[in-house]
Formats: sequence, C-alpha cells, structure tokens
Amino acid sequence: MSDYILQAKNLRKEFGSLIAVRDVSINVERGHLHSIIGPNGAGKTTLFNLLSGNLRPTSGELWYNGKNITRLPLHRRAHIGIGRSFQITNIFPTRTVFENVRLAAQARNRDLKAVFTVWGRMTSLELRAFEAIDIAQLTGKERMLASALAHGDQRKLELAMIVAANPELMLLDEPTAGMATEQVPEVIQTIDHIRQQGHRTVMLVEHNMSVVMSVSDRITVMHHGSVLAEGTPKEISESHEVQQAYLGELYSDLMESARDG
Ligand SMILES: Nc1ncnc2c1ncn2[C@@H]1O[C@H](COP(=O)(O)OP(=O)(O)OP(=O)(O)O)[C@@H](O)[C@H]1O
Ligand SMILES: [Mg+2]
Repeated sequence: MSDYILQAKNLRKEFGSLIAVRDVSINVERGHLHSIIGPNGAGKTTLFNLLSGNLRPTSGELWYNGKNITRLPLHRRAHIGIGRSFQITNIFPTRTVFENVRLAAQARNRDLKAVFTVWGRMTSLELRAFEAIDIAQLTGKERMLASALAHGDQRKLELAMIVAANPELMLLDEPTAGMATEQVPEVIQTIDHIRQQGHRTVMLVEHNMSVVMSVSDRITVMHHGSVLAEGTPKEISESHEVQQAYLGELYSDLMESARDG
C-alpha cells in the first residue's frame, strides 16, 4: 500500500489567458525525494507556489496527510509541516549566518520549552542551528554577516535555514542556481544528508540533471504547464517522449551517463 504525504488533483493555475499549471496531478510518497523538471516556463515554480500556499489554484485540489488543504492559507501550511526554502530576500543581511539559522529554527518552533532547555550552555535551538549549519556545509562561517557571503554560500545558507526549520515536507526550488560547478557536489551531499535524517519528504525543482538523476526517487516532467511523464530516474532518462520534448537535445550526454550508470 502506498503512503502519500501530498496529493495534487487536477491543480490548475491561470494568469489571465495564460495557463501556467494545467490540471496537474501528482502523488508524492512519504520519505521520497520527488523532483520536478522541465524547461523554463514549464510551470514548476508556479506549482510550488500552489503547494506552499503562496498562490491559490484556479481549480483542483490539494491533499496533505489525507486532509484537504486546498483552502488552507500559507502560514497554516507552514505550521502543519510544509516548508519552502527561504529565498535570499528572506535572509537578514545584517545578521550573521548563525543568527539567521537560529531565527529559522525558531520560526516554526511553537514549543517554548525547547527554547529554554539548556544543554550545557546552549539551548536546543542553538544546537539545532549549529547542526543545520554543519549539514549545509557552512561550518566556520557562523560569524560571518549574511551579506558578506559569496552567492554559493548564500544558497547554502538558505538550505541551512530550511533544515533548521525542520518541515516534514521540504520544497526546494533550484538550490544550485547560480552556484559554481565545484559547489554542486556539496549541495548533493547536503540533500543526501537531509534525507538520511528520517522521514522527511523533499520536493526538488532543479535544472542540473546530474543533481536530479543522483538524488531523486521519482521525477515528474512538466512541459507547458502539463505533466509530460513521471517515473524513476532510469525510466525518465530512457523515455522516448521525454527525450523528444525536452531532455534529448539539452542533456543528451548526461542522459547517456545516467543510462550507463
Ligand atoms: N505571477 C505571475 N503572473 C503572470 N504570469 C506568471 C506569473 N508567474 C509565472 N507566470 C508565467 O507562468 C509560466 C510558468 O512560470 P514558472 O515560473 O512557474 O515556470 P518555471 O517552470 O518555474 O520556469 P523556470 O525554469 O524558468 O524557473 C511562465 O510563462 C511565466 O511567465
Ligand atoms: Mg522556476
């Protein structure tokens, strides 16, 4: 029997005459890493905005842990465990890396006891912040001002903040965007580490196919707002339809390496 944490049923989002998300149905299995890929403008970010509650769907339904949350506002979705990565604009530039991560840990922590539980001289929130900084591979940069970080490290800070916030379902929109190539393996490691932490479910939008192929359990391919295909990395890399529409021309060499590996 399958156990879906999230189910989108015919989700649709229109912006005037533009149909950005066209009756998309997706089942996300608990504990999976489920990636959404597709060309620019396919509707991936709009879909994430519908899942997080940043946007209201034109039609369709959204179910989370067996409850219909279609009309649940953003902050209540965050409270029941749906978290999206903090954008650079959510980072306080004049605060340190550590302060930003600790604030993120606090943001969803309604259990005040945790704030005052002292372990040694550190509160559990501080411990959680240090752990998240370690997982995101920012150790040694805790005292740096967020504004002083290089772009790649700012993206890692976003990851550290969502790890600290500890949502049950994590939505990551292009965590490697704008990063130097040599930093990408560190992000893969971070995502692997996040997954090893137990029952967390991760949804990932990512253009870097080597990242997608190495971390995903399932992949949904979007094209012009619709679902073009869904399957395992192997199934997607072998899909003739996907190759034709999208992957073949852009990522043929990577697809070959995914097939051979
Ligand atoms: N708030 C909005 N108002 C009007 N049109 C929008 C809005 N947000 C997105 N769109 C349009 O919806 C379509 C899907 O955009 P979306 O950002 O979801 O694509 P995407 O798959 O995330 O693309 P990318 O890979 O470039 O990030 C695009 O044509 C975009 O211009
Ligand atoms: Mg996008």
